[in-house]
Amino acid sequence: MGLLKFFFGFMLLILGGNTVLSVFIKGKLSDVITSHRHLAPDLKEKYFTQILDHFNYNSLGNGTYDQRYLISDQYWKKGYGPVFFYTGNEGDIWEFALNSGFMLELAAAQGALLIFAEHRYYGKSLPFGKNSFDRPEVGLLTVEQALADYAVMITELKKELAAHNCPVIVFGGSYGGMLSVYMRIRYPNIVAGALAASAPILSTAGLGDSKQFFQDVTSDFEKVDPSCRVAVQGAFQKLNVLAQQKDYNQIQTTFSLCKPPGSPKDIHQLNGFLRNAFTLMAMLDYPYSTQFMSSMPAFPVKVACETMLNSTDLMSALRDTVGIVYNSTGDLSCYDLYSLYVECADPTGCGLGFNSYAWDYQACTEIEMCFESNNVTDMFPLMPFTEKQREEYCFKRWGVVPRPGWLKTQFWGKDLSTASNIIFSNGDLDPWANGGIRKTLSPSLIAINIPEGAHHLDLRGSNPDDPESVINARKKECETIAEWVKAARMEAS
Ligand SMILES: *[C@@H]1O[C@H](CO)[C@@H](O)[C@H](O)[C@H]1NC(C)=O
Ligand SMILES: *[C@@H]1O[C@H](CO)[C@@H](O)[C@H](O)[C@H]1NC(C)=O
Ligand SMILES: *[C@@H]1O[C@H](CO)[C@@H](O)[C@H](O)[C@H]1NC(C)=O
Ligand SMILES: *[C@@H]1O[C@H](CO)[C@@H](O)[C@H](O)[C@H]1NC(C)=O
Repeated sequence: MGLLKFFFGFMLLILGGNTVLSVFIKGKLSDVITSHRHLAPDLKEKYFTQILDHFNYNSLGNGTYDQRYLISDQYWKKGYGPVFFYTGNEGDIWEFALNSGFMLELAAAQGALLIFAEHRYYGKSLPFGKNSFDRPEVGLLTVEQALADYAVMITELKKELAAHNCPVIVFGGSYGGMLSVYMRIRYPNIVAGALAASAPILSTAGLGDSKQFFQDVTSDFEKVDPSCRVAVQGAFQKLNVLAQQKDYNQIQTTFSLCKPPGSPKDIHQLNGFLRNAFTLMAMLDYPYSTQFMSSMPAFPVKVACETMLNSTDLMSALRDTVGIVYNSTGDLSCYDLYSLYVECADPTGCGLGFNSYAWDYQACTEIEMCFESNNVTDMFPLMPFTEKQREEYCFKRWGVVPRPGWLKTQFWGKDLSTASNIIFSNGDLDPWANGGIRKTLSPSLIAINIPEGAHHLDLRGSNPDDPESVINARKKECETIAEWVKAARMEAS
């Protein structure tokens, strides 16, 4: 689930973000195009002097680093309104801020102070600069350290802003949603409630079925048209035949590759590259075009199936279908397999650049994602990823041995009955959904399912093309959060 998959995605984000925010923020369009910073004049970019190591007073020094955050008091009823705090996940914090318009709408409605905090080791919050991914420096990249960062930051900023009486609600999408859950269960003294959107807290703790993820990706395409699944499977089958014949030149031509594959390893990379496009289209199957993580048309799964079924030549149809993701600009003359997709410890993709190193390291330590495709329960080639493969890869790449089960021990797994004030929202189109909490567990552990929703659609700002189900979900979220805030105030007084 690594973000910022594509370099060009970032450029497009600058334009795309505006459509999200323009509803609320009257930034000048000209500013938007020239500068990222001017895009959201109300969100000020700041740095917080953060403790480097919250849990060991001397191993890597007792220093600090500069943690980036974005803040807006535009809607805040000073000293009284709640604090809405986004627990940043695996990417540049602007990317999340610009794609979480719902938080702005909610802040406007409830008079809240908005803060978006960047996760350590991502974006500009690199504790050791360009050495952050060396050893032992990378060792301070843990879920626990990130949560402690947020707890310390909230505490200090509340002091600084005279917000003592302002209840804090945390928000997050995907891994950020997991962090929101963990904040509420680890720091209930600081956080009154959490909206965890598309937070796969079960699957990433090793609970559930390793086949589920790609099965659910497949079912999105199948639901659009059963023959779409058949066509994709058929295309991979044809590729498999060519690969077995070692007809590498034919593969290069058919798939418009910059270099011919030369080995089974290159074929494996090609399969991963192709599969990853389907993963992204399923996750980002929003009803309008977006620039989040990638550049997507409206209903990309539907577009993909139309493309897939538009040609009698299955393999070239497959090439054109993945082009929706990799060649959205129409500028690529050929696909460079190793630069467009990087295989890592997360079989759903780690993205590219520094952020991908950080996510890979997390996938090698606490976050378990041994998802595999098998060409039986899904439409993709057999690509196993076992705990043993993960262990070998992680030891080679980072010198670490993952500890399966730790996340479940540390953050409770599915045994959440003593927790409270958490909303688990999930969209049925999202392949991550079934790795999360789908059933309400108690009156204050609420599951909201959004039948027409993809990956945390509810966190996005309102859009004329929103399905009824997400509008209802946001209403329920809005009411529940208002209740939590009210209850927290009464407790405090
Ligand atoms: C901790 O901080 C103090 C004061 O800044 C410094 O003298 C000391 O060397 C530091 N210790 C470590 C282990 O970095
Ligand atoms: C997928 O399974 C089918 C049989 O159901 C088989 O014909 C095909 O070769 C397999 N495809 C791949 C890519 O292994
Ligand atoms: C389908 O193919 C036709 C003819 O080649 C083309 O004009 C059309 O744009 C294609 N549609 C899609 C969805 O790719
Ligand atoms: C990218 O899209 C353009 C425009 O449709 C097309 O000409 C080009 O062949 C595509 N590149 C690849 C690698 O398929």
